[in-house]
Amino acid sequence: MNPPKTEAQQRERISVQIVPHADAASAELARQIAALIRARSAEGRTTVLGLATGSTPVRLYRELIRLHRETGLSFQTVITFNLDEYYGLPRTHPESYWRFMHEQLFNHIDLPAENIHVPDGTVPRAGIYAWCRQYEEKIISAGGLDLQVLGIGRTGHIGFNEPGSSRDSRTRLVTLDRLTRGDAARDFLGEANVPRHAITMGIGTILDARQVVLLAWGASKAEVIARAVEGLPDESLPASLLQQHPNLSFLIDEAAAGQLVRRRQPWLVGPVEWSPKMVRRAIGWLARKLNKPVLKLVDEDYSEHGLADLLTEQGPAYGLNIRIFNELQQTITGWPGGKPHADDTRRPERNAPFPKRVLVLSPEPSADVIGMGGTLRRLVEQGHETTVVYLTSGNLAVPDEEAAMAAELVADLARDLNDSSSVLSAFVENVRQQLGASGSTAPESAYVRRIKSILRRNEARASLNSCGISSERIKFIDLGFYERGRYRQFHPDPRDLTSLTQVLREIQPHQVFSTGQQEDPSSLAAVCFELLRQSLAQTKREPWQADCRVWLHRGGSSVWDLADIDMAVPFSPPELARKIHAIYQHKSQRSQAIVATGFHESWQQAEQQNRALAKNYDQLGLAEYEALEAFERYDATA
Ligand code: F6R
Repeated sequence: MNPPKTEAQQRERISVQIVPHADAASAELARQIAALIRARSAEGRTTVLGLATGSTPVRLYRELIRLHRETGLSFQTVITFNLDEYYGLPRTHPESYWRFMHEQLFNHIDLPAENIHVPDGTVPRAGIYAWCRQYEEKIISAGGLDLQVLGIGRTGHIGFNEPGSSRDSRTRLVTLDRLTRGDAARDFLGEANVPRHAITMGIGTILDARQVVLLAWGASKAEVIARAVEGLPDESLPASLLQQHPNLSFLIDEAAAGQLVRRRQPWLVGPVEWSPKMVRRAIGWLARKLNKPVLKLVDEDYSEHGLADLLTEQGPAYGLNIRIFNELQQTITGWPGGKPHADDTRRPERNAPFPKRVLVLSPEPSADVIGMGGTLRRLVEQGHETTVVYLTSGNLAVPDEEAAMAAELVADLARDLNDSSSVLSAFVENVRQQLGASGSTAPESAYVRRIKSILRRNEARASLNSCGISSERIKFIDLGFYERGRYRQFHPDPRDLTSLTQVLREIQPHQVFSTGQQEDPSSLAAVCFELLRQSLAQTKREPWQADCRVWLHRGGSSVWDLADIDMAVPFSPPELARKIHAIYQHKSQRSQAIVATGFHESWQQAEQQNRALAKNYDQLGLAEYEALEAFERYDATA
């Protein structure tokens, strides 16, 4: 018999293990896989693994490679079947899953080539049905899948089984959802290049595996995870159909668990420690649920909605309401750098020193203005010495067409000016050639990447100039991991850390603003945040750090719980318009953003998020503003 479920698990229809970090979770799963392979191999049996691609399992594969190299784990007895492949891509394409699996895992272990199975994206249309049947038959004749590893897409897809896929579906050709294609647009340098179809194992194929483990990292997966785990099984959310599997677990990090009831409203599933943050979370939730301002909540509201415990411990409602109202009120400040000479005991930022040295670290051009364009302008207007440092060039996010246009502009200008130097024309010629070749993500496309960097730099300057920041206060440090890497494949090294640490030491900031803490660890923002974390840890004994506060904003699509906000900076309608104007200067990002963010341009998303936050405060009975930008304080010493 299974052990009785905890209260939290009673809401959850799937066994969920929450681990602090993706690294720890991946190491744990790798350990389990290694144990399975060793046990079966000791009995002379093979192990059949179902594998996924994408960012999520990369850490798992790295760990398996390490176990192979350091502990002699052998894959000689392993047979693998991959979930899916884009239809129409040859194996050699930089984005083919065949290539991905070889680069990320197969080339580094002793798995026999004949044991590897990846759906073939080049099968002629007429032969697809027969090919897919054979794939299923091969799985069966290998003995069936012992363990299937899954990631999850924002549509709730598993493999490429998009919403609407049936529980009984088998390996087949499918059409990709627009959101999925949008999410892949960056990898393919534009949605236009993302294949429309894929071959995927079916949900029925996945459910036939003897064990299934789904991995998910980062806040962008939190909503879909909560729906898959807590909702009823429904074909509109394919991952929810996994609930029917008898040996299934979700292994997820804290950020991906963020929307589960046990994290968002833990008082509904068991006793909680009423920390100040938890009280704020509960009262914010209660007020929103009842559509009442905080100051109008009464004892019955608390006791009738699962908060009797809080009422007994810290009530009555009247005093509690006032306390939380004041706490929320005190997060709002028009002085993000601190208000000089004002009493700062209850303000988010201290009043001195004034002016402050402020460092805004942006993972790539545009992340700064999307997350804090309004606050940036305020900091400058209030006289702080504000420097914006772009950690990477952002050149990977520029579509090829933009680079082609820029190259032709240079060529035209050289012609107009009768410029006879061969340097420019050679440069343009190189760009043209590389754009015509296999795809500009390839490392050999240095000229294309260079022109793309120049484009993004100039957009960033235009954007920040419009916020009142002069060009001398804008720095581009082009960290090497980005220039050497590709999306999902960033490997920072000590040189990157040294470059960032040098910036911190040079500026010795009183405030650092950045982002990325909640993101998928392989995303650019998260990689940059991790470097910042390490850099702060490395310099923690340096005197400037004792006087430095770190503030984090979140991506444009993130949802804030008011309890996590330590500083909220309000804006008037014209100020919001100016922020949008600043985002708008990142012209090369416009068309991309339409698809990458689910049909909203990044400025639209930022606008929606900032207005929604203001509305949230308003609904709780606080002041009514047009828009708010929010920040969480990061404790570098924790
Ligand atoms: C990959 C696959 C997909 C991904 C999902 C999440 O083989 O089948 O279902 O697991 O799209 O992708 P990432 O991990 O990149 O977030």
